[in-house]
Amino acid sequence: MSSRIAQIRLVSSHPEVYEPCDDSFALVDALLADRTNLLEHHPKLCMEVGCGSGYVITSLALMLGQNALGVQYLATDINPHSVRVTSETLEAHGVHADLICTDIASGLEKRMARLVDVMVVNPPYVPTPEDEVGRQGIASSWAGGENGRTVIDKILPIADNLLSDKGWLYMVTLTANNPSQICLQMRERGYAARIVVQRSTEEESLHVIKFWRDADIQVEEKETVLMNKTVPARAMEYLLSQYPQASLW
Ligand SMILES: C[S@@+](CC[C@H](N)C(=O)[O-])C[C@H]1O[C@@H](n2cnc3c(N)ncnc32)[C@H](O)[C@@H]1O
Repeated sequence: MSSRIAQIRLVSSHPEVYEPCDDSFALVDALLADRTNLLEHHPKLCMEVGCGSGYVITSLALMLGQNALGVQYLATDINPHSVRVTSETLEAHGVHADLICTDIASGLEKRMARLVDVMVVNPPYVPTPEDEVGRQGIASSWAGGENGRTVIDKILPIADNLLSDKGWLYMVTLTANNPSQICLQMRERGYAARIVVQRSTEEESLHVIKFWRDADIQVEEKETVLMNKTVPARAMEYLLSQYPQASLW
């Protein structure tokens, strides 16, 4: 019987490539927890930004299947070693994804606009000095700049552009990233959100958040803007009251 997720012993590695870790496992667990919904969602195109070892995109391809359902997979990483390692991991599991070495989705945005039905991201989220962001090799795996938000804040508008009308985004965040603010920013773009998985260790608390477009939110936002033209604090209060999981933080 084929495995539903990638097997660690078949995941390829390289000293300059991020090995599957707690955050990778949390993301795959979130996808497993939502697998029934994902299957009913019938995605045509699934994409991972920052594929590292390939553990996550391989697991997603095994979970949702490929050939019979006509699902296509695409993964990007800024680190060329990651792209090679991901290709080996996919091959070892007998699944396929198109792999591109690029900065987030640079060069793909026009062609792929509004086509991605499922996007998964375990971004570099560790707070670091800004000049560590974008360094070559393994450092690009974790260096997230101020509050760990530099790469995340670049990914969000790109995800919004790439996601289809029914698109779902699953993203790993750390408490230090201020996930409630991320949710509010996405809400302003018309997305609802929920935490699919939460993991806490002594050092950090990880959340895997799922975002999806919600037509009702856009209507509410327009009304809010009309009613509170220049009162951001009240708008924030309103959003938090509409948004139980954000108010938890
Ligand atoms: C925390 S690791 C996650 C790797 C893998 N997805 C996992 O969960 O095990 C973050 C990955 O994002 C990649 N990355 C960092 N900045 C990027 C960027 N601007 N564009 C694409 N990939 C990036 C890193 O090279 C690294 O492979």
